[in-house]
Amino acid sequence: MQILKTALAVGLTAQVANAGLHAAAKSKNLLYFGTATDNPELSNSAYVTQLNNTADFGQITPGNSQKWDTTEPSQGQFSYEKGDVVADLAEANGQKLRCHNLVWHQQVPGWVSSGSWTNETLSAVLKNHITNVVKHYKGKCYAWDVVNEALNDDGSFRDSIWYKTIGEEYIPIAFEAAAAADPDTKLYYNDYSIEWSSDKATAAQNIVKNLQARNIKVDGVGLQAHFTVGQTPPRKDLASNLKSFTALGVEVAYTEVDVRMKTPATEANLQKQKTEFGDIVGSCVDVEGCVGVTIWDYTDKYSWVPSTFEGYGAACPWDEDLQKKPAYDGILSVLGGSASSSSSASATAAPTPVSTFATAVKQATTTQAVVSETPAQKSVEPEQPEQPEDEDEFCDA
Ligand code: XIL
Repeated sequence: MQILKTALAVGLTAQVANAGLHAAAKSKNLLYFGTATDNPELSNSAYVTQLNNTADFGQITPGNSQKWDTTEPSQGQFSYEKGDVVADLAEANGQKLRCHNLVWHQQVPGWVSSGSWTNETLSAVLKNHITNVVKHYKGKCYAWDVVNEALNDDGSFRDSIWYKTIGEEYIPIAFEAAAAADPDTKLYYNDYSIEWSSDKATAAQNIVKNLQARNIKVDGVGLQAHFTVGQTPPRKDLASNLKSFTALGVEVAYTEVDVRMKTPATEANLQKQKTEFGDIVGSCVDVEGCVGVTIWDYTDKYSWVPSTFEGYGAACPWDEDLQKKPAYDGILSVLGGSASSSSSASATAAPTPVSTFATAVKQATTTQAVVSETPAQKSVEPEQPEQPEDEDEFCDA
């Protein structure tokens, strides 16, 4: 497998210059590079043009429209209109869909959060929700984030309505219901501040181990990667942490990447951000079993950061005017693409990833004997920024 990965990497180097983030990611044998999106911004045609650029984005995630408050706003009344808009867009573009999410402590409708539940009644509500939503999207989701953010930073279980009422058993209940509703989608545990070795990362690994010990299907761990400039862990630490998950036999993905900074942004911070985006994506390239990277929207115009972290913003690889920032080139260059100009004009000029990849596979096959003696391409170490100082910094609002 490593030989093939190396062959793919070598065979594609010349092909991916300026090809786009997804095309370049595929050349490094990731399955996808993608972005979150959300329904309101789909009315902006310039935004949608870039979202549809499959050279950059081979995957999309609905940022809000599959969450509980949207999909089951009243008990038993399911609403899929908004989620379907994003799912249909992915299908029309041939982009993979990461489905997000089934159980979370936020964006839960009032009828759930204010209901008076017993373990039994809330477990039934949980199973019913998951069964309906997963069946509705059956066959459409590459993966589902089944349980989102179940842990506190010290690795204990978050005191959500789910944990308070059902105890930690809500997690196996959720995974079992999802597996029964769509046996072919990948089932993920997804969280933040598990991107470096920590009690919280260990606790996330324990969630996986506990499911596995009971033969309950769990396929992956999503590491959100909402970082702050200057606090992104070094590439080698990110990679070794990813390996502590893949060692359990699950795949991993970075699911919600952004790297925020104090605003207004400075050139120095934009340059640091370029390196740090490169480190995050590079660590995925470094690890067999890291399948892809999703940014939490591609443009600062629609980022959740400014409204969530006061005084911070500029967290995405495209700026508020949909122009590429240095971070774009930082990502492209760790993926083996060559640096582009900093305009978004290439959105329409990029080649399609499908033909690029097909060509590369052929080349890789024919050059395999030669490149099998070539050292692995996945070992470049960048300069190492500081370790995160304050893990609370990473908390969601
Ligand atoms: C965020 C959305 O981007 C915002 O629009 C919304 O107001 C709050 O949720 N972790 C997650 C995501 O798993 O679902 C969150 O998305 C960001 C943090």
